Amino acid sequence: MLQLQSLKKSYSQGSHTVEIFEDLNFELHKGEKVAIMGKSGSGKSTLLSLISGIIKPNQGDIVLDGVSYKNMSESQINDFRATHIGFVFQNFHLVSYLNALENVMLPAKVCGIENPRTKAQELLKSVGLEHRIDHLPSQLSGGEKQRVAIARALIHNPKIILADEPSGNLDDETGDAVMNTLFELIEKNNTSLILVTHSKEVANRCETTYKLALGQLLPC
Ligand SMILES: Nc1ncnc2c1ncn2[C@@H]1O[C@H](COP(=O)(O)OP(=O)(O)O)[C@@H](O)[C@H]1O
Ligand SMILES: [Mg+2]
Repeated sequence: MLQLQSLKKSYSQGSHTVEIFEDLNFELHKGEKVAIMGKSGSGKSTLLSLISGIIKPNQGDIVLDGVSYKNMSESQINDFRATHIGFVFQNFHLVSYLNALENVMLPAKVCGIENPRTKAQELLKSVGLEHRIDHLPSQLSGGEKQRVAIARALIHNPKIILADEPSGNLDDETGDAVMNTLFELIEKNNTSLILVTHSKEVANRCETTYKLALGQLLPC
């Protein structure tokens, strides 16, 4: 379903080059849930950015559901990302001037999905926030913001969710409850998940945990 093929990625800063991946290969199946752990700076966020097409590899290719990123233009990859990928971030990344309902509707509007309002209302209900739809992000707690972000990540029925330390800014109890909701919804929809986390307990909810070290993903 997702293939990373001989990925090479380095960042250049002046005359200095930071090598992140030299030859990374990886495969994820439909509905599979994997966790990625690894030290800060090991390249976890870079890996998610490559999978989402936000950044390009220096060499190699990414193939999602049979579609290669290699020859896509920037606008094609932006459309592809908006249609097929959902994101959950540590810092929620909600649009501050839109209320919960409008935030959740955004990806559906971008993709031209029918009845975005009804779908957003249903999703907010399924994350337990039907009483918060008019609230702005500033009027929500951290856990509530992340629930809005989860609803937003799922509204366009993405093939895959990329989650970068989604419970990293939440206390244990809130983080647990939010992760329960995320797993419940992605299992219901058979959505694939790549979850970056520092928590072994959170990682254990996935089928496989990989450690990212020295540019390689090693099962652990
Ligand atoms: N845009 C960039 N330009 C230069 N170096 C970067 C850039 N983004 C990340 N890096 C470097 O790449 C390495 C991996 O970063 P990152 O993927 O954010 O790691 P992680 O998410 O595992 O903490 C770090 O050393 C970081 O400083
Ligand atoms: Mg990171």
